[in-house]
Parts: sequence; C-alpha cells; structure tokens
Amino acid sequence: MVDNQSLLEPYALSSTLHLKNRVVMAPMTRDMSHDDLSPTKAMAEYYARRADAGLIITEGTIIRPDAKGYKNVPGIYTPAHIDGWKRVTDSVHEQGGKIFSQIWHLGRVSHPHYLNGELPLSASETTMTGKLHRAEGLSHGKSRAVSVAEIKSLVESYAIAAKSAMQAGFDGVEVHGANGYLIDQFMHYHTNLRDDEYGGSPENMARFALEVVKACGEAIGFDKVGLRVSPAAYINEIAGDKRDAAGFQLLFEKLNKLGLAYVHTGNFNDKNLFEDLGNKTMTEFIRAHYRGTLIAAGSYNFDEAAEKIKTKQFDLIAIGRPFIANPDLIQRLQNNQEIKAYEASMLNVLY
Ligand SMILES: Cc1cc2nc3c(=O)[nH]c(=O)nc-3n(C[C@H](O)[C@H](O)[C@H](O)COP(=O)(O)O)c2cc1C
Repeated sequence: MVDNQSLLEPYALSSTLHLKNRVVMAPMTRDMSHDDLSPTKAMAEYYARRADAGLIITEGTIIRPDAKGYKNVPGIYTPAHIDGWKRVTDSVHEQGGKIFSQIWHLGRVSHPHYLNGELPLSASETTMTGKLHRAEGLSHGKSRAVSVAEIKSLVESYAIAAKSAMQAGFDGVEVHGANGYLIDQFMHYHTNLRDDEYGGSPENMARFALEVVKACGEAIGFDKVGLRVSPAAYINEIAGDKRDAAGFQLLFEKLNKLGLAYVHTGNFNDKNLFEDLGNKTMTEFIRAHYRGTLIAAGSYNFDEAAEKIKTKQFDLIAIGRPFIANPDLIQRLQNNQEIKAYEASMLNVLY
C-alpha cells in the first residue's frame, strides 16, 4: 500500500481559500434539477454528504437558455436558480466544505429541441452526426456560427453567471472549457473554421477562452476562477489536429500571468498519451506550460494520485465516479478502507 498521506494534506488554493485536503470532487452532470432548472433539496443533500472533499466542483450548470442541451441540467441565470444554489452552498458550508460552480455553455452539442427550434451556437457552422446523450431518439445536426457581437454577449453571460454564483454563496467558479463544449469548440481547428480574430492562429483560437476567463476574473476576482480544459480532442466528435496544441500552449502562457485559482484537466483517462501533445498525457502537457495550481482527473486511484502529487506532477486530484459510489470517500481514504466500485446504474439515484 502506497502512503496516501499527501492526499490528506491541506492546500492553499489562494490566500483566502484553504482546502482541507487534496481530493476534489469532479464535476458530474446528474440531470436531476427541477424542470425550471433550479437545484433541488436532494441535490443540496447529495453535495453536503460529500463536503469532506477538499473542494467540490458542481455538475455543469448552464449560464443562459441557449446554453442548454440536456434535460434537467441546472442553470444559474434566474432568481430561483440562485436561491436553489444558495441552499446547496449553505448545506456544504455547514459541513465545513468548499464548493465551486461549473459554468457551462454546450454550444453545438445542443439541439433545436432545447432551443425553441433554433440551431445551436458554435464557433462555426459544423455538423455532428451522433445521437444526443440522455435524449432518446434525437440526433445531433448542424450548428450556427456566432457573430463577433454574439461572442461579446456570450463573454458577458459567463461573467454574469460568475457573479450570480457568488451571490448564491459559491467559493468560486470553474469555467467549463473542456470536453468539446462551446469554449473547446473555439480551441480546435476541427470546429473552429473562422478567419476573423477568433480563428486561424494560436492567438485567435485562444481568444474566446481567455476573454471568458478574464471577464469572470474581473467580475469576481481571478483567485476565485478556475478553468477546465481538454487540450486533446476526444469527446463530442471533435477530431484532433496537430495545430491545436499551439493555441492551448499560448492560452496557458497567458493564464500564467492572471493568477487564476487553478487549471483542471478535463479527461476520463489520464493515462492516454497524445501524439499531438508531444506524446504527453493531457495533464503532463498542461504542466509543461502552466505554472499555477493544476488539478488532474481521469480514472485515477488514490495510490497513483498520491504518488503524482508527491512528485509534483500536479497539485490536486479530481475524483469523479468513485465519489458517486462512495459519498464517504474521504473517510475511506483516511481509514484505508475499501472503495466501493462505481456502476452506471448508480446514476439513476441521487444519493
Ligand atoms: C456521470 C458523469 C457526468 C459528468 N459530467 C461532467 C460535467 O458536467 N462536467 C465536466 O467537466 N465533466 C463531467 N464528467 C467528467 C468527470 O468530471 C471526470 O473528468 C471523469 O469522470 C473522470 O474522472 P473519474 O475517472 O474519477 O470518474 C462527468 C463524468 C461522469 C461519469
């Protein structure tokens, strides 16, 4: 058994945000909000049960109506949403936890079904072909390229969502820039075909992500803003392109100067090596270019994570599925107890 002590050590995310350990609960969509997209009492209890985590990052939470693309995914743009989240953050804080809101726009991964018949927004007009997750019978299709004026409005919407999150009592926000959703669509040549100032060069490809992060930082403080990214394309039908890495590299170099709370790898298996990233894992690639706090994620067990934190390959570990299976994950870690295996059927119940 490897010494897991490094996972239980506290960590100063900023001068005001002290985490009691290095284990973060990864953001995980559960599709269980009320139909008006406000969080339920059961969601408050679910998160409070996991308040022993050093930091909880909520499930992706949509920033405005056209950000939507799954049923019963919560929002953070109406007073009812903010009130509902206040109940969640109060419950987590009462248990001594810390919690960030993951703010999200799906971009082209949505469907006219969710958008009053309108096409989903994206960096460019592209076509997805697969079936929608969690929506029987619907297939993805065409997206519509946003204008520069619409980009400015999207940036503002992220900043408003960040302010609303602080009003709801969150300790900060994580901008969801990963997994093939809107921000990631700007970062990849496969989905960004623009030839204006938002496409065509590393600087332009990174511009939208950077503007969103800056707007959020200016709204609530940079030390309360994290960013999740997936430098190697791998889900939601984004194909890799050798040119993508340069945009991410430039983004990290610019983020180094901003003093963000953290950067977080958006990944399901962080053992995968990517040729386009110089035969590195996503986390190794980020660490090579980003100097601030780095959260890794993707099929880690405690032993691997402890070893990599000890050797400073990253600073914090986000754990997803095991946290669904084990609400008492941290206690199990503290007591060296067995971890219950995750099964997909566990998603049917919010416990
Ligand atoms: C049911 C489920 C929902 C997820 N929803 C989100 C999400 O809303 N936002 C996000 O960035 N990642 C999401 N992820 C990815 C996780 O945050 C995490 O990166 C992934 O599960 C790998 O970590 P794990 O191997 O410890 O589970 C989700 C994963 C699962 C299993």
